[in-house]
Amino acid sequence: MAAPANRTGAGPGAAVVIDSVGKTFRRGGRRTVALAGASLRVRAGELVCLLGPSGCGKSTLLRIIAGALPADEGTVTVGGRPVSGPSPDRGMLFQTPMLFPWLSTRNNIMFGPKAQRAARLHERDDPELDTETAALLDRVGLAGFGDAFPHELSGGMKHRAAFARALASRPSLLLMDEPFGALDAITRERMHEFLLDIWDQHRTTIIFVTHDIEEAILLGDRVAVMGGSPPGIGEIIDIPLGRPRDALDVDTELFLNARRRIRALLQQTQLRS
Ligand SMILES: Nc1ncnc2c1ncn2[C@@H]1O[C@H](COP(=O)(O)OP(=O)(O)O)[C@@H](O)[C@H]1O
Ligand SMILES: [Mg+2]
Repeated sequence: MAAPANRTGAGPGAAVVIDSVGKTFRRGGRRTVALAGASLRVRAGELVCLLGPSGCGKSTLLRIIAGALPADEGTVTVGGRPVSGPSPDRGMLFQTPMLFPWLSTRNNIMFGPKAQRAARLHERDDPELDTETAALLDRVGLAGFGDAFPHELSGGMKHRAAFARALASRPSLLLMDEPFGALDAITRERMHEFLLDIWDQHRTTIIFVTHDIEEAILLGDRVAVMGGSPPGIGEIIDIPLGRPRDALDVDTELFLNARRRIRALLQQTQLRS
């Protein structure tokens, strides 16, 4: 029997199968092979990082998984179903937190579920949704900020609000595209702890894109190293660090070994491209 959906967040995570995915962009007379033969199987509830230099097709792959961009070749299935377009079951988080500036934090979080329910029920008041939204605000440490507007929130708070908004639709898969890249080091460290804590409770499957080796090792169960020419997914490294993890893990022998290995792999793919 499937586990019940958590009231303050996602349902159980979905497995993802990426099979021989390719994408070529054509603009003017120019062809750019953004991705070729990318394959990866992500287990239900797993946190996998896609790591590679700028331009190696990370965002392209994430958009294909999200259903925001069609692949030219290959297939993606999420929870056994082929991806053919966007779905509220797949939440996406970007480097710039996507919040509607004209809505309060609370109404930003409610936006997705409200739209879903309105389509189903045509009802306006929804005390259950109010309770769930209050629980989510509390969960992301914004209990006192439900009425605040995005411009009144700090960088880290905006990220947590966007996170709550993504979780409000109870996705079985979260796709994160370099979400903390623009944050200062201390806020970033806090967001890592926050992300791992949320993931530990909900076990939503997460695919996390980054170009930062340390971030990939600190977060991931596995790290898929991307690059090469044409760009694709190369080796997939198991990260043997235990959980829970925190910033102190970067000084451990296991961490340093993983970093050495991944550095060498990235250098090899650079040499081949
Ligand atoms: N819409 C587009 N039109 C043309 N080229 C694109 C488009 N999107 C991405 N590309 C190209 O595809 C390649 C991969 O881009 P991207 O997936 O954004 O890489 P990454 O996220 O790893 O930095 C790059 O060379 C980029 O310029
Ligand atoms: Mg990108």
